[in-house]
Amino acid sequence: MKKRKVARKYDRWSRWYDIFDMGGQGKQKRYSVEALKIEKGEEVLDIGCGTGAILGLVADAIGPMGMIVAVDISPKMVAVVRKRYLSRKMIRAEEGDVEALIYEDNRFPKILATFALTSFPDPLSSLKEAYRVLRPGGTFSLLDTGPPPRGPKRLKYQIVRPVMRLAGSTHIERDGIALARQAGFKLKDVKRFRGSLVYCATFTK
Ligand SMILES: C[S@@+](CC[C@H](N)C(=O)[O-])C[C@H]1O[C@@H](n2cnc3c(N)ncnc32)[C@H](O)[C@@H]1O
Repeated sequence: MKKRKVARKYDRWSRWYDIFDMGGQGKQKRYSVEALKIEKGEEVLDIGCGTGAILGLVADAIGPMGMIVAVDISPKMVAVVRKRYLSRKMIRAEEGDVEALIYEDNRFPKILATFALTSFPDPLSSLKEAYRVLRPGGTFSLLDTGPPPRGPKRLKYQIVRPVMRLAGSTHIERDGIALARQAGFKLKDVKRFRGSLVYCATFTK
């Protein structure tokens, strides 16, 4: 899907996104933030932030001296984040393309991507950009849906995949862990969530 189409799709979804974004995802997102082991005062980048539902949690972790930069290609998603966190000055929501981040090399000690990689038009270029702006020794937490390595979840995957494609062109066939490694990241840990096709992988640079 072309970028403009993706932005328009999420613009349309921005008003309803949080209503459908429920269930186990809250727990999984919390895990992906905890996996970053955020320290007070740190600067955290969230790529493909959407409505930014978990940014409050990140803000609690970094404290008032920290900074969150939340980037999304959909202007309306960015507008939701800005409105949502009007009083939390450490959250800066910016319209931008993850394939062409405006930040300098090695800037962020922590980067987060939750359920975003499967929506990015070019996942490898996006991950290469995330790698570029991650500080050496920093942590990247990647939470998403993907093909299970083996076992009974394979069947679930075969059923869910065409439905997801029909519902919104979400590419759950993408192997995010392999792509992140290809982009240069070193894998530290993978947690797979029971009963779902969701994984959270943490990487370093
Ligand atoms: C499925 S939503 C996930 C949002 C949020 N991270 C969450 O966990 O709910 C994917 C988001 O990625 C954004 N996105 C897609 N392509 C992008 C790109 N090239 N650059 C920045 N954001 C992008 C979409 O606009 C959308 O808000």
